[in-house]
Amino acid sequence: MSQADFGLIGLAVMGQNLVLNVESRGFTIAVFNRTTSVTDEFIAKHQGKKLVGSHTLEDFVKSLKRPRKIQIMVKSNAVTDSERDAVDAVIEQLIPLLEEDDIIIDGGNSFYKATERRDAYLAEKKLRFIGAGVSGGEEGARKGPSIMPGGPPSTWEVMKPIFESIAAKVDGEPCVIHIGPGGAGHYVKMIHNGIEYGDMQLICEAYNIFKHAGFTTDEMAAIFNDWNEGELLSYLIQITGKALEQKDAETGTPIVELIVDKAGQKGTGQWTLLNAAENAVVISTINAAVEARILSSQKKQRVAASAELKGPAVNITVSKADLVKKVHDALYASKIISYAQGLDLIKTMGEKKNWGLDLGRIAAIWRGGCIIRARFLNRITDAYRGNPGLVNLMLDPFFKDVLGRTQQNWREVVSLATLSGIPAPAFSASLGYYDSYRAARLPANLLQAQRDFFGAHTYERTDKPEGQFFHTDWPEVIG
Ligand code: 6PG
Repeated sequence: MSQADFGLIGLAVMGQNLVLNVESRGFTIAVFNRTTSVTDEFIAKHQGKKLVGSHTLEDFVKSLKRPRKIQIMVKSNAVTDSERDAVDAVIEQLIPLLEEDDIIIDGGNSFYKATERRDAYLAEKKLRFIGAGVSGGEEGARKGPSIMPGGPPSTWEVMKPIFESIAAKVDGEPCVIHIGPGGAGHYVKMIHNGIEYGDMQLICEAYNIFKHAGFTTDEMAAIFNDWNEGELLSYLIQITGKALEQKDAETGTPIVELIVDKAGQKGTGQWTLLNAAENAVVISTINAAVEARILSSQKKQRVAASAELKGPAVNITVSKADLVKKVHDALYASKIISYAQGLDLIKTMGEKKNWGLDLGRIAAIWRGGCIIRARFLNRITDAYRGNPGLVNLMLDPFFKDVLGRTQQNWREVVSLATLSGIPAPAFSASLGYYDSYRAARLPANLLQAQRDFFGAHTYERTDKPEGQFFHTDWPEVIG
């Protein structure tokens, strides 16, 4: 009997938690897993809940009300628009079983170009496809994630009751909107992850400065816990405080100090970088974060180089209390820059693709449920709601003021880290962006002279109208 409101394929932890979330909102949900024993165990464990388990895809599809709404929660690993992966395999199996207007939702971290390909492919078959970014990890999936669905606008009215009921809520507003057509949802999730990388790296740089300045791990935990009461309040600051507090059960040592300093990454940050390069948008803070992970993973080389390459002795003379305040400001200012860059990229790409993206609404759905949820996203939401045409977040009056009042401390932190040889690539990249962006004149005049010198690439002149190009007969250089 077709009774289920929603179907989910892939009962790994995220999938299971999403099912329980949907079910808890009053929906009947059909589940399928390739290894059927996983389905049986899941159903047995949750007896009495409105779940329909099937051993075949045919039965699973038959158990769903029309238009069928089927979410796939399998791992995507296609990193180009043409590669085929597990998501494609499931789609191929579903196609012959579905009917016009049925909806397939991919809730994994798929590459947005693969989502665009699937959207077009399924549209040819008169089926509808939604690439939906889902953020919040396992807990978010169970209690309320932030959801970023793309796909045909016609799917939104169908999916809205389910998506809005399962999403996190902030001030009564569900953390889900229809982001835009095609791959827009997965695209925005990709940038969300790039911003997530930036936030995480900035926090790690703050921690590293404190560590070099002689703070104990418990002192640092207290600092992050305290910051989580103020303007930096965010999920990532909160879990940092908790992570620093955690002791190893066997040795009593802070667990963070026992963890090898090699960062993993699954690709969304690197995709963000490539996309920024394609669009000629500067995301230097996010770049620094991705590159910091890459360098961290080259542990053997770093250990060898640590004995070869000289640096200065750490020389931090400010008091601990002053350092905490200064690093707080450096972190806050750099975080603003990171979001300014990520949002600039979303804006640029949205305009190029004609996706009709609304930055205010996107910032609003990041306020809850997702990994980058933070108090200051309220301010970002207000900034774009007040001025949808805002050219750069830094120019919003609230953020302009914060950057103005934090910058002295921000500069001092970058300086003291540099003079003490403590790497702070994301703090410095953020400050470099700020200073470049606010420079009415950059040294690119000399760069243009160099280009014209060796390649006759021509240049514009300050004393002539824009759009007129000139060339100089430069002296010949011998040797
Ligand atoms: C989220 C996260 C999540 C991501 C992990 C791992 O929003 O819930 O972004 O989707 O997969 O954070 O990312 P890395 O392995 O690349 O750090």
